[in-house]
Amino acid sequence: MDTLFNPSSTSSFTFIQTHKNPQSFSLRTCGYLPFSSQFKTQSWVCLKAQEFHNLTPLNVLKKRGLKCVSSGEGLADEGEGIRRKNLAVFVSGGGSNFRAVHQATVSGDVHGSFVVLVTNKHDCGGANYARENGIPVIIYPNTKGEPEGLSSTDLVAALSKYKIDFILLAGYLKLIPSELIRAYPKSILNIHPSLLPAFGGKGYYGTKVHKAVIASGARYSGPTIHFVDEHYDTGRILAQRIVPVLANDTVEELAARVLRQEHKMYAEVAAAVCDERVIWREDGVPIIQSKANPNHYS
Ligand code: GRF
Repeated sequence: MDTLFNPSSTSSFTFIQTHKNPQSFSLRTCGYLPFSSQFKTQSWVCLKAQEFHNLTPLNVLKKRGLKCVSSGEGLADEGEGIRRKNLAVFVSGGGSNFRAVHQATVSGDVHGSFVVLVTNKHDCGGANYARENGIPVIIYPNTKGEPEGLSSTDLVAALSKYKIDFILLAGYLKLIPSELIRAYPKSILNIHPSLLPAFGGKGYYGTKVHKAVIASGARYSGPTIHFVDEHYDTGRILAQRIVPVLANDTVEELAARVLRQEHKMYAEVAAAVCDERVIWREDGVPIIQSKANPNHYS
């Protein structure tokens, strides 16, 4: 049972959960394995619990270069073997990043659906776009200006009803409450318009970031997507893109150049997250497995 083998990635498999030993998941081949007649009928691969490190069984398989075509009950996913993910988005402004990722969910490039939007400004562009697209809007936090806003505890309770897999922050200017961070470990992403850890932290938002980049004389800037912890802009970096800072750039020109990359990168990262292609390195750094070339990570 714990002999491992490395069948060709074109073989097909069925997952069987070993009820006797919850520490392991077994995988039964149900297809033809071209390299050995010994394995032509049924064989087993045992996935050890230590291998998981926040990976699903499907991703452990991927890491080993195996492919799952069909899977047993309880571990089963639809379509290509990966369940479509439920996404929440937090927005305070125009929401152009949200729109870009939403369009990618509609076109099928991102295997997920936005099921709720959270905002601290009920009438912002992002919230209105959500309403136009039939996406429910939640107001958070509760303030004088937004008396309909939820408390942190009620926000966590409200989100749990939507069975959220991932939360994308897209221009949300308030700090995320620690209750929410605890409820969604390794599942909340933010986009920031500079190459973190430079030009990040409290006070670095909107045009202030680009202004500081230009004033510093940095020749390169670009967006960062990172996991969210309890401080501003300090969570683990997941993706970055480089954008040149030109000698005569205005803040607006640089912001627009960075924003174009933000839209592309957020859609690509959302696709990776929904496809379960984010792998956590042993030192705690998250990396993305390429879809086109599964042996390549960035
Ligand atoms: C983006 O520049 C993003 O990096 C930052 O806030 C801005 C949001 O823009 N966190 P939009 O609302 O998505 O257009």
